[in-house]
Amino acid sequence: MSELNKKNFYAIAIDGPAASGKSTVARRLAERLGLIMINTGAMYRAIAWASLKKNVDASNPEAVATMLRQIIVSCGVSDGQSTILIDGIDPGRALREDQVNARVSQVAAVPEVRQLLVEKQRAFLKWDSLVMEGRDIGSVVFPDTPYKLYIDASEEVRLARRSAEGLTDVVSKRDEEDSKRENSPLIVAEGAAVIDSSEMNIDEVVEAALVELQKRGLVL
Ligand code: DC
Repeated sequence: MSELNKKNFYAIAIDGPAASGKSTVARRLAERLGLIMINTGAMYRAIAWASLKKNVDASNPEAVATMLRQIIVSCGVSDGQSTILIDGIDPGRALREDQVNARVSQVAAVPEVRQLLVEKQRAFLKWDSLVMEGRDIGSVVFPDTPYKLYIDASEEVRLARRSAEGLTDVVSKRDEEDSKRENSPLIVAEGAAVIDSSEMNIDEVVEAALVELQKRGLVL
């Protein structure tokens, strides 16, 4: 790539526990700022879905790592949002099923899985500026970005949000596993603005996020 073609793409990193509202905020920010939106939870879910389809024991890291070498994981962007295919198949709604919820934290703790997905996540920034949401975006994927947010909400509110979506996700169990794992645990990244969304509606969270991003130098 010539110097002339180099673009100053930037990343907005959004982390937080399950059902904190970070996906909605990420999508709204991406629309407002004209950026692509990358949902990294869907990537970990797709690997968990693959382990289910292939009858791989998710609690056995070596078995998961072996499976990873045998599947083709393709990431892309469609209509401004990230997509993921496993061996050419889009798992779609199956990514949100209980069986996937139950094993995704185990799969996400496998170092080989994180290594592969973090590599793919960083590659998106070669093509466009983006909003990326997950658990380790500000701490591991893009530690140098000044634009870091941590969206939180009480456990009660998060459970209520999932059930309003018609989902029975045991968020507290996943949060515990995601926060306690050795490899890239869920933490508030250094320099991140913490926004507690428990008592806010989505417009208020987006406005609070924009204020914090402007404080960190983002020009709207
Ligand atoms: O955002 P989500 O709830 O769809 O994420 C599903 C799981 O994926 C979550 O329980 C932990 C894992 N995950 C992760 O370990 N790192 C990320 N950057 C995103 C998700």
